[in-house]
Amino acid sequence: MWKSDEGETVSYWENSEDGLQNSSLNESIQTDVCIIGGGISGLTTAYLLTKAGKRVVVIDDGVIGGGETARTTAHLSNALDDRIYRVEKWHGEEKARLAVESHGAAIDEIERIVREEGIDCDFLRVDGFLFEAEDGEDDLDEELEAAHRAGLTGVERIESLALKGFDSGAALRFPRQGQFHVLKYLSGLARAIEKNGGEFFSNTRAVEWTGEGSPSVKTAAGYMIRAKSVVLATNYAMMSKMFAQLPAYRTYAIGARVPKDSVEKCLLWDTADPYHYIRTQPEDGFDVLIVGGEDHRTGQENDGDRRFENLWQWTRERFPVAEEVLYRWSGQVLETHDGLAFIGKFSDSEPNVYLITGDSGMGMTHGTIGGMLVSDLILERENPWAEVYEPSRILTQSIIEAVPEIISSTVPYVDWLKGGDVASVDEIKPGMGAIISRGTTKIAAYRDEDGKLLKRSAVCPHLGCIVQFNSLEKTWDCPCHGSRFGTDGHPINTPAFVPLEKLDEAEDVS
Ligand SMILES: Cc1cc2nc3c(=O)[nH]c(=O)nc-3n(C[C@H](O)[C@H](O)[C@H](O)COP(=O)(O)OP(=O)(O)OC[C@H]3O[C@@H](n4cnc5c(N)ncnc54)[C@H](O)[C@@H]3O)c2cc1C
Ligand code: FES
Repeated sequence: MWKSDEGETVSYWENSEDGLQNSSLNESIQTDVCIIGGGISGLTTAYLLTKAGKRVVVIDDGVIGGGETARTTAHLSNALDDRIYRVEKWHGEEKARLAVESHGAAIDEIERIVREEGIDCDFLRVDGFLFEAEDGEDDLDEELEAAHRAGLTGVERIESLALKGFDSGAALRFPRQGQFHVLKYLSGLARAIEKNGGEFFSNTRAVEWTGEGSPSVKTAAGYMIRAKSVVLATNYAMMSKMFAQLPAYRTYAIGARVPKDSVEKCLLWDTADPYHYIRTQPEDGFDVLIVGGEDHRTGQENDGDRRFENLWQWTRERFPVAEEVLYRWSGQVLETHDGLAFIGKFSDSEPNVYLITGDSGMGMTHGTIGGMLVSDLILERENPWAEVYEPSRILTQSIIEAVPEIISSTVPYVDWLKGGDVASVDEIKPGMGAIISRGTTKIAAYRDEDGKLLKRSAVCPHLGCIVQFNSLEKTWDCPCHGSRFGTDGHPINTPAFVPLEKLDEAEDVS
């Protein structure tokens, strides 16, 4: 458990005992559906397909449920993160209505699965409140009208929000939102999948897949999984060409101890940019107030400690009952250029490959929609949301103009022209990393706590940007499209899915 005087970061959920460790794949196999990625997207897809009688294999590079799903704050909402009125402007009234409907249906689906499978995961229906921040956008009325047009007729404006433990000014109330303990939920899903005949392999990295002819997935250990369908549920789809439409962000969260029932059970988020998102989670004898925010483009800042401090200060000012920080952690979210996830067929030329990506900060519901939609496509069933989430949808000029992040993906290529962070490895302290420049070679050098130097090429294997050190997570993060690597070079977040290259002798520095 993280206390404010210790330096580590521990996600609230990782503290639970629901990590799902399975053995790795050590032979070539055959199945109906191979799902790459064991987060909420992959497991929901696996659950629905095994229920329909398909043979399903789920593989994961780490442990099942150990990706971004283990770092979420698990708000379940049908209030679109990018605002309903913006999605309406970009896609029209009907698609905005379908998008809102799909998120509501995802919460209903989670509730149904929890009930049917008897999953004890603290699922709760709660109200959600979008409240005005002092320096936030004044767009509540616009959102209220769009919410009503999208079918959320129960949404109402409150002039002065007065909740247990929290007061603010104007807000919108969204009824029938939800919250749950995400790893307890995944654990219940995994049990149900196994009961239905599904199989899991952890520590099994996919390095290649093909959807032409007979689809297959190759693992890093060289084994083949032959399947009729392949689902890419790796959060950021491997080998996807849509990286320009998927800017990656780091987001930060703290979990503070508050007296039991001292803060209203509800979802809260504000109009600031980046916005704050807040809720409580019950513990024995107290509640944990989970507060997130402080987002920035991945690899473009390195000040995580300051961001945690900002969150704690923000929390103390608004929630005087908050006693101490018990947990703090960060994670990755993907925004899309038009506020909606990409879910569906990967491409026309590879019709048996499906992808679920672009969580847009709503990955709990987007991941569930992904499971519902992709399983319908594989089972050849109609789905009303297929067109809304179609991955090949066109990037229109109005959308490009609305999203300066696309441009910001290309700016970091200038890092090639800059010198290194330090002149020599002697300047790197234990636990720290730095870029060293030697002629045209850029080296990512990390000194571990025992003083040993780990060195890799600093060139991101995705499209060649220079990675930057993230001193909070002890990772190398790419400022262009958000790939992340361990200090030994292993890939953590795609789109790159191979390690940072080893240095050859001529490039090495001592
Ligand atoms: C701090 C934070 C707060 C958030 N809050 C919310 C919230 O309140 N509500 C909400 O709806 N969403 C929220 N999100 C977003 C949400 O958590 C994510 O979008 C969602 O968990 C993504 O699920 P996933 O299954 O798509 O990906 P993941 O959970 O990341 O699963 C993908 C899996 O794929 C595996 N993988 C990757 N590459 C390979 C490979 N080559 N071979 C094999 N396996 C591979 C990874 O190991 C990983 O386990 C938040 C995210 C963060 C970080
Ligand atoms: S993630 Fe695209 S260049 Fe690194």
